[in-house]
Amino acid sequence: MRKIYITEVAPRDGLQNFKGVVETERKIRFVNLLSESGVDEIEVSSFVHPKWVPQLADAEEVFKGIKRKESIIYSAITPNERGLERALKVGVDKVAVLTAASDTFNRKNINTDIEGSFRILEPVVKRAKEEGLNVRGYVSTAFWCPYEGKVSPHKVRELVLRLFEVGVDEVSIGDTIGRASPKDVYELLNMLLKDVSVDKIILHFHVTYGMGIANVICSYKDFGIYRFDSSAGGLGGCPYAPGASGNIATEDVVFALREMGADVKVDERKILHALREVGLPVNSSIGRIF
Ligand code: HMG
Ligand code: MG
Repeated sequence: MRKIYITEVAPRDGLQNFKGVVETERKIRFVNLLSESGVDEIEVSSFVHPKWVPQLADAEEVFKGIKRKESIIYSAITPNERGLERALKVGVDKVAVLTAASDTFNRKNINTDIEGSFRILEPVVKRAKEEGLNVRGYVSTAFWCPYEGKVSPHKVRELVLRLFEVGVDEVSIGDTIGRASPKDVYELLNMLLKDVSVDKIILHFHVTYGMGIANVICSYKDFGIYRFDSSAGGLGGCPYAPGASGNIATEDVVFALREMGADVKVDERKILHALREVGLPVNSSIGRIF
């Protein structure tokens, strides 16, 4: 049985859309506390345009301030070459590039369509690989798009395969607006896992329709998916995806998977401790109990 691999995305996905101010020192403390929880990877920030995502304008300072643990990968989003340059200067362990299965969402999110996203991400992947970094590709709006509606799984499969051709090491498949149900997950994974190893796929769920944990359980149990993105306290949301609510909460995911008999190393109490220590809100089922 493969150990569950958790990428904790609260410092990035959680804070990119956060309504209050979270000072740099508080972010650093948050990442350091999350490092004690047993998560495998922490997406620390995004090297995006500060006008597009002002909440993460301090990505360099956060990376410089955190205390890194050998066993944890500290990653970041780098949507373009400028972002990668900035990330390389502060020694990120791994980078992520962005595309989405919808032209409209891509335009709103990164100011270009699907074809344009590949033109921008290809040199980023090439250079990151030359620098010896692992690269994640994100496919957002992989089930539903806030602008274009239901997304075809064929289109998602095509984009995932194209990202691997470009040279990414893994793909995170995003239900950006939290609209996917297990039916959508079955439809996509039945198709995708014929061509792609389960070791290279990560699922990234949001919770708007309340299906996030059900999606985790069915993808784990019926398809052997063991890598998930989740966010402490269920923080999260994309500023360019209207109606998107938080990510699936790390504490709920690890509780659910452990109950299913999975090998889970994350301590949900330490996740909750990290949130409370830095005064961030807790919006999860487990958070209401412990
Ligand atoms: P653009 O305006 O098209 O950029 O933005 P540009 O290349 O035309 O450059 C314009 C100016 O911006 C230039 O400055 C650049 O130097 C500067 P000027 O010469 O005019 O003075 N610039 C930058 N500065 C700092 N850092 C940079 C950078 N790039 C350009 N990296 C861009 C294009 C991609 C940068 C912009 O659209 C952007 O930053 N978008 C990010 C949006 C974002 O972060 N969205 C949220 C993350 S995605 C998400 O949440 C979904 C996910 O969670 C999965 C899921 O849930 O599905 C991942
Ligand atoms: Mg997200």
